[in-house]
Amino acid sequence: MNAKQIKNFTLKQYTPEHIETCVSLFFDVFTSAPFNFQIPKNNMRRYLTDISNTPGFKGYLYFSGYRLVGLCFGTVLSYFQTTTYDIKEIAITKQLQGEGVGKGFLGEIEKDLDATGVKAITLSTQKTIRAFEFYEKNGFTISEQTVYMSKPL
Ligand SMILES: CC(C)(COP(=O)(O)OP(=O)(O)OC[C@H]1O[C@@H](n2cnc3c(N)ncnc32)[C@H](O)[C@@H]1OP(=O)(O)O)[C@@H](O)C(=O)NCCC(=O)NCCS
Repeated sequence: MNAKQIKNFTLKQYTPEHIETCVSLFFDVFTSAPFNFQIPKNNMRRYLTDISNTPGFKGYLYFSGYRLVGLCFGTVLSYFQTTTYDIKEIAITKQLQGEGVGKGFLGEIEKDLDATGVKAITLSTQKTIRAFEFYEKNGFTISEQTVYMSKPL
């Protein structure tokens, strides 16, 4: 199966009843190459649940029929007279990656956010993973002013 054989993709808003299908998709994607994360499913469930309980949370799901093929978890933030959507996690099911599904999903998300007054999408990612290219190809640019910092404790 590839994306060209699947024509009907539907965008839906996340609701808590979707948690298990989201955990399964997320688990499959991030326990496989190139990530190979050794994270128990329960921790992934807690992580996604925690994001979904964040104030301003907005989650998008992409379905092909009844099958979940994409998820995007993020938060709508309003400050300094502007409203942004910060993507925390986005993933397309392994079997359909690289088929243009992510581009279509992001486009639908952008339309929905635009209609609700969101003015920009923000995110942080690693420069070494392919998602970075995906974001660049879809119009994201690197901020000149902002850097992501961390400190081991
Ligand atoms: C990143 C992701 C959401 C992009 O969705 P997608 O449907 O695979 O992307 P599209 O098919 O719309 O776009 C393809 C382009 O994205 C980039 N890309 C990123 N990840 C890719 C992947 N796993 N496979 C193929 N292309 C990928 C490539 O530059 C590609 O362009 P090309 O076909 O000219 O090489 C998806 O690949 C994914 O879920 N990856 C794993 C999880 C992840 O990295 N999430 C983001 C963490 S910050």
